[in-house]
Amino acid sequence: MSKHQLGYIVFGLFTLIYVFGYLNLGWSLSYFIWGFVAWFLLILYGSFFIQTNYHLKALTKVKTNKKVVAITFDDGPSSYTKEVLDLLEKYNAKASFFCVGKNVAQEPELLKLIIEKGHLVGNHTYSHSKDIGFSWTKTVKAEIEKTDEAIEKYSGVKPAYFRPPFGVTNPRIARALNKTKHKVIGWNVRSLDTLIHDESKIYNRIIRQIHPGSIILLHDTSERSVKVLERLLIYLDSNNYRSVTVEGLLKETT
Ligand code: NI
Repeated sequence: MSKHQLGYIVFGLFTLIYVFGYLNLGWSLSYFIWGFVAWFLLILYGSFFIQTNYHLKALTKVKTNKKVVAITFDDGPSSYTKEVLDLLEKYNAKASFFCVGKNVAQEPELLKLIIEKGHLVGNHTYSHSKDIGFSWTKTVKAEIEKTDEAIEKYSGVKPAYFRPPFGVTNPRIARALNKTKHKVIGWNVRSLDTLIHDESKIYNRIIRQIHPGSIILLHDTSERSVKVLERLLIYLDSNNYRSVTVEGLLKETT
């Protein structure tokens, strides 16, 4: 049972108790409205913060005492992916790329290169639609399957891992993933590299949050992120941290 389903049951019980109180004890309607608002806010919070595991179980970190982290890149492949791959190679780091299907179709050579270099490729839907949170289950499922097909077509590898666009989850996305059977990967270090413009701010934000077993979210879609990545890799190197794929991180669990 998901936390969301549990929330439904709790709200259902609350409603029953409220109806009893309303009929027998003269409770005000505002009690019910406050209960409803609290439930609604809880659902919103659970839908926008993947770390809450509210609608589905997502891996957002690993419990380990080893100095190891997983750097992940979303929304590529793009014209910056090659630079990212060169940096990872230079610092002997492995990473995970959650690719958008339509970008894979445009840049199949980059996809192949990611895999050749020993990195992991995950599914990040076909069109990365802003409306994903409002899409029907079958639309979400089709978005995921079309991306799997594109990745498999060009690389021969079928992705086992999925990351929802914007980290948004809801019961429909949970149902779609129940069918496609992907493991869901979130993060516990969000760089906000697509929102913050100052490289130093992004870098400091990341290193402040790094712990053994962290999953770091970056995007291989801008020069800014490439520059932050180099500073991050230098930091990891000088602090004896290793960067591995998400799959590699799972093997480090203690
Ligand atoms: Ni994304």
